[in-house]
Amino acid sequence: HEEFTKVKNIAKIELGRYEIDTWYFSPFPPEYNDCLKLYFCEFCLNFMKRKEQLQRHMRKCDLKHPPGDEIYRNGTLSMFEVDGKKNKVYGQNLCYLAKLFLDHKTLYYDVDLFLFYILCECDDRGCHMVGYFSKEKHSEESYNLACILTLPPYQRKGYGKFLIAFSYELSKKEGKVGTPERPLSDLGLLSYRGYWTRVLVEILKKKHNNNISIKDLSDMTAIKTDDVLNTLQSLDLIQYRKGVHAICADAKVLDRHLKAAGRGGLEVDVSKLIWTPYK
Ligand code: COA
Ligand code: NA
Repeated sequence: HEEFTKVKNIAKIELGRYEIDTWYFSPFPPEYNDCLKLYFCEFCLNFMKRKEQLQRHMRKCDLKHPPGDEIYRNGTLSMFEVDGKKNKVYGQNLCYLAKLFLDHKTLYYDVDLFLFYILCECDDRGCHMVGYFSKEKHSEESYNLACILTLPPYQRKGYGKFLIAFSYELSKKEGKVGTPERPLSDLGLLSYRGYWTRVLVEILKKKHNNNISIKDLSDMTAIKTDDVLNTLQSLDLIQYRKGVHAICADAKVLDRHLKAAGRGGLEVDVSKLIWTPYK
């Protein structure tokens, strides 16, 4: 029965040097239903019921980073691209893990169709996942992001906005506009609102409102026109003049919005992104 199976099962996980309380139900295989805590290998994301199993596993697992291509490195931050078709088990493990912190997303068993972008903090012990986003290889709806997660110990440090910015940098390289898959969670929406506001308002400030259009803003940022329009409308920056949208951009008003949009998050330095679109 649906209701019964959705009762939260796993209460805690161990991942790298963290023990993390989970937020939601995740449909782990039935043999894990009697565990309150699961032990994850932080590199291959295999999960185990007992600490001793994990310790044994760690002695023989030779991964020190996600099983994919490193496409970005800036200081101690690296991003790896993992193809769900080439690394099916990793993709599935990641989905099980992520669902523990995602309320409404259906889990994608069909990981073949997705690329996973894993953000890591690297040190001499290896590359430790701090968060990730998934992306459909081919999206009819111009989605450039399916799921996004910052692991709880790393939240509220700007990684979410970094992941969002990264997803738009990939769209720019593809020459496409993108938008996140809906529905967004409350925290997801807050992060996107902050990102969109900051990016758009910063452009408007520089342009001094020289007749820039919604379409221009979309072209410059890879943010889908609907999202540009909604963001500017919610900031009360759109006026109708003679049946067309006009963007009002008083410097003081823009500064106020920028302040309210929160911190900028960590910058994506595009010069450090080495990537060609999936074909
Ligand atoms: N309370 C209030 N605002 C919050 C918040 C919280 N707990 N967490 C994030 N925000 C808002 C803030 O506006 C924040 O900007 P600020 O710190 O400058 O004020 C902004 O979101 C983004 O913060 P950032 O540090 O860049 O994001 P993050 O690394 O914490 O990650 C998520 C954001 C959404 C990825 C993260 O909350 C998460 O993984 N949530 C669980 C999974 C999820 O809901 N994913 C989205 C589903 S579509
Ligand atoms: Na996904």
